[in-house]
This record gives sequence, structure tokens and C-alpha cells, in this order.
Amino acid sequence: MCGIVAYKGYKNCYPILLNGLHRLEYRGYDSAGVACLTKHGKLSITKKSGKVKHLEQLLKNKDIIQDCRGSGIAHTRWATHGKPNQINSHPHKDQSGDIVLVHNGIIENYDPIKKFLQSKKVKFKSETDTEVLVQLIGYFFQNVKLDFQQSVRAALQRVDGAYGIVVLNKKSPDMMIAARKGSPLVLGIKDKEFFVGSDISPIVKHTQNIIYLEDAQMAIIDGNDYKITSIDKDVSLPKKVEKIDYKIDDYDKGKFKFFMHKEIHEQIETINNTIKGRVNKDGILLQGLFKYWPAIKRADKIFITACGTSWHAGLIGKNLIERFAEVPVHVEYASEFRYNKTLVDNNSVVIAISQSGETADTLAAIHKANEAGAITVGICNVPGSSVSRETNCGVFTRCGHEVGVASTKAFTAQITVLYLLALKLGRSRNLLTKNSVKAHLDYKNAIKKVKLVLRKELDIKKIALKYKNASDFLYLGRGLNFPVALEGALKLKEISYIHAEGYPAAEMKHGPIALVDEDMPNVFIVPKDKTYDKIISNIEEIKSRKGKIIIITDSRDKILKNLANDLILIPKTNHYMFVVLATIVLQLFAYYIAVSKKINVDQPRNLAKSVTVE
Ligand code: AGP
Ligand code: GLU
Repeated sequence: MCGIVAYKGYKNCYPILLNGLHRLEYRGYDSAGVACLTKHGKLSITKKSGKVKHLEQLLKNKDIIQDCRGSGIAHTRWATHGKPNQINSHPHKDQSGDIVLVHNGIIENYDPIKKFLQSKKVKFKSETDTEVLVQLIGYFFQNVKLDFQQSVRAALQRVDGAYGIVVLNKKSPDMMIAARKGSPLVLGIKDKEFFVGSDISPIVKHTQNIIYLEDAQMAIIDGNDYKITSIDKDVSLPKKVEKIDYKIDDYDKGKFKFFMHKEIHEQIETINNTIKGRVNKDGILLQGLFKYWPAIKRADKIFITACGTSWHAGLIGKNLIERFAEVPVHVEYASEFRYNKTLVDNNSVVIAISQSGETADTLAAIHKANEAGAITVGICNVPGSSVSRETNCGVFTRCGHEVGVASTKAFTAQITVLYLLALKLGRSRNLLTKNSVKAHLDYKNAIKKVKLVLRKELDIKKIALKYKNASDFLYLGRGLNFPVALEGALKLKEISYIHAEGYPAAEMKHGPIALVDEDMPNVFIVPKDKTYDKIISNIEEIKSRKGKIIIITDSRDKILKNLANDLILIPKTNHYMFVVLATIVLQLFAYYIAVSKKINVDQPRNLAKSVTVE
């Protein structure tokens, strides 16, 4: 599920591959490995559990690094089958030792294939599903005597599941084969050099000419030439080369120690970038929806589907669309949407939200909606990603590459897009006047307020450090701020490994209140809106059970000051911008607790940046 980088060209491939692995580190992984074909026709494989820097150290002691002929494949593994140890790390080779492969994804029917191969005397070294695939390719090549290309094709036609793979064969040293189904894979092209990556991050440094392989496609690089075919048939397909515009700066931490910290601060610009060019005196322009707008604005039900943080943005979207446009919105986790009897049909609009655009469950939900004839709308951060290509239309969040595994700036950008979409829908359905849309869009001021919140960083840090040893947190909010509570709790869990739960503030007394004692911090998100008095009662309920109260509010009322053990005051703004500001406070709160525990917040344990398996 994690990272692939491969190179075929005339240069020494090690520096390119190692640099590529570093670029892929943001995706989260537990081991790394590299294989290359040497000038003397040897295949050298080096792999290690742990970080890319550990692999690098191991390679320093090998002469082979000077000796490779320019074809190499490398991998960061996020273990799905078998422990994250050296043997299970990729690349894996077949029994003959000629064929070597890296794989992202899961081979679901590995067990019967493994039994079949064992009956043919194939011996396995690792516990992975991946080794089954390379051994099967090897079986077709060595036993059935198919050529290399045919062997890869034959094997792929027999496996179920998701994969992005790159394969080399000592016996066909001029050839490199890449293929994908489910998991993403891109090919970079530059004169006589070829690059393959599970995303563009290891490639952008070398070339801007990219082909996003489509599902069930193969790229066969042979010498200085290449072709794209389907996995089923050896018939050349058109080469859809795109010029991408991505900045290398996106991979630089600048003055910050962690990407996450940098990305929290970038929200001053990213919110602006999401809006830029989309609002003018006539209203809101969402160019990517233009063709489908007449149908979208008439929709009588809308579905939103996503995972994790993006699902939280979806809950906020529901609130905004129902409020401004008066269309019922159903929000469902993509992993549930794909299997539930979700009542989507050709009158539905299905909005899929995904930072990466590659989340397997979200893609499966899109496929289901497409098959039902719904209009699919992608809200996504990565141009060229599968979500952006497989939905009918969409809006990019434009917040730049998000490197930290814990999503921050992408979340506030998603909320911003949903806000624009809800206002535009409300206006198109004659529920909002031009002036009220304008009044809602006081973004220039809003950005100033983001700056003010970021200036409170040291106060937030001080409060965070007071609670760093707590073992459980409750996050409580109502209405638009219930999803903010969920997101605040998720951030804390993800990067500090502290248990936290988000609840609608009033719902807390239906169960979670049993957890409250004098050690338990309760984070309340309290805008001065129509639920204000109600939340105060909820705070009292916790206070009388001796729970610690942390309040994030835009109200200067004394009553809150008296109730709170700690209070973070954010500037007055509209309800929707309050959500953004409170989120930023919670991001910083989680960040400082995690950093005080010496956790690498950019790559928290067990997490991957894009979850390309079910
Ligand atoms: C965010 O902090 C998480 N790492 C995770 O919940 C993420 O939001 C989820 O996996 C969905 O990813 P996507 O937006 O790229 O589809
Ligand atoms: N399923 C494979 C394994 O466990 C690949 C995992 C990955 O995508 O990194 O080795």
C-alpha cells in the first residue's frame, strides 16, 4: 500500500531510487528495499525493516552501488500480510532468482495460488501475499516457458485484489514491466529515461511528462521504447502523456521541524488558494462542475462519501448544504457505502471527498455510484489522481502537496470547497440572495483571523503540555462543531497515540459521561450561537463530575472563564469560519502533545498517507 519507485535509463539508479524512497516516506511505511540489475548481469537486492536511512547505511557498505546498469526498483512497505521484518520486505524474487518484483496492495487469492505453486515444488521464503505473485510469474516463465511479458500477463490474469507492481527479469535485462489494478501507478518519461512511481512525488524532480496508468493497464518499457497495453491483451493503447505542474518546494520543510507544523501554518495561504478565482461580483464559479451544474442544482438528494478526516469534512458539508440549499444529504463512510444497500440511482449526486484521490474504499464507492448512473463529484487535492479521473466532475482543493500523514490543510481546504458549493447551490435554488452570498464570503477578513489564531500558538502549546500525560480525552461540540470535535479527537489519536473520542456535546450524557473523573480532560468547542446556553449546561454536567474543562470559544463571557480550567479565545467571525479557526487550534493542540512525547508526527506508527487497500 505504500511506495514504489523504479528507474530505467542510462544513469546509476541508486541515487535516483534512494532519493525517490525519501520522497515517498511521507506515505508512512515500516520497511524499505531496493533491487537493481548490475552491469555484469547480476541482480542485487538489499532490504531492511525500519527507515530508508537504515537501508541507505546498509548500501554504503556494498560495492554494488557503483556497478548497476541503470534498471532498478525500490519499495517502502506497509505490511498487510506478514510481519514488518527484513524477509517480508520487498523486493521479492521468484525461486530461480531471475525475476524480482515490488508490489503495493493486496493479493486476495494468494492462498490457493500458493498451494498450487507448492504442489509444483515452489519453496516460499516470506509470509507475504506479494511473493506468491512473483513466484507465479516465475512459474509461467520457467515452467510454462512463456516469454517475460506473457508471464506477467498470465500471472496478473489469475490474481484477485489490488496491485501496483514493477517487475524486472535478469533474462530480459532491457525490459521493465509495470502494471496496476486498484493501486495507483504513474510513469514518468524523459528522453531515454523512464521512472515509475506510486505517485508523482519521486518523479517530479526528474520529469514533468507523466502518464497516469489507468486501471488494468500495463506499461512495458523495452530498451528506449515503451508501450501501454491492457493487462488482458497485448495491443498498444494511446499514450496519454500529461505535463504536470508540481513544485519541488512542496517537499521542503523550510524553517519547520515537521511537515505537519509547516502545513498547519500554510493554512493562511491555502484557504486563500482554494477560493482564489472562484468568487467574483456575480457569485461563485466552480468551473469543474460547469457541465453538470444544471443537473446538480436540481438534485433532490445528495450523498457524500469519504474516509477519515475527509469524512469529517463531509459531515460539515452536509450541515452547510442542508442549511443553505435545503437538499437532504446523506453522509456515509466509503467502506460502508460500497457494501450497504445505499439507495443511489440516476437522480442522485454523489460527492466523494479525498485528499489523496487514491483511497481504495472511496474509489470503490465512486465506481458503485457511477454504475448506478449517479452524477459523481470529486473534491480532491491531487490533480491526475484516480478520484479526479473517475468522477464525472469535481473541484480541486488546491492546497498543495500534503506531506504529513495527519491531514491538516487539506481538511480546511475541503471545508472551504464545501462551503462554496453549498452557497452556490443555495443561490442557484433561489434560497440565497446575491448579497447574502457576498456577506458569507468575507474571506479577506477571515484570513486575517487565521493569522490571529496562529499567533496564539505559544498559549495553545502551554495548555497542551499541561494535559500531555492524560490517557483519555473527550472532544465535544454541537452542530457544525460536532465534526470538528471528531476531527480534533482523530488528530490527537493519530499523532500522540492517546485515546480520544469526539461526541455531540449533549449526547455525552448518554454514555461517555461514565468515563469522566478528575483525570479526564474534556475539550469543548463553544461558538456563541443558538446552542451556546445548551453547551454551558453540558459543561456544567462534566464540571460537577470533576472533569477538566478546556474551552475553545469566540465568547468573552465571564461564565465560560469561570467554568474553564483553560480557555482559548478565537476571534469573532461567522459560524463557518469559526469551524476553520477551532480546527486550527485543535491541530496545534494535538501537535504539541505529540511532539512533547517525541513522536515523529509526520509518520505516526501504523498509519499510511493514502490507504490504497480495502
Ligand atoms: C487523516 O489525518 C488520516 N490520515 C486519514 O483519516 C485520511 O483522512 C483518510 O485515510 C482519507 O484519506 P483521503 O482523504 O486521502 O481519501
Ligand atoms: N501486501 C503486501 C505486503 O504485505 C504489500 C504491502 C504494501 O503495499 O506495502 O507485503
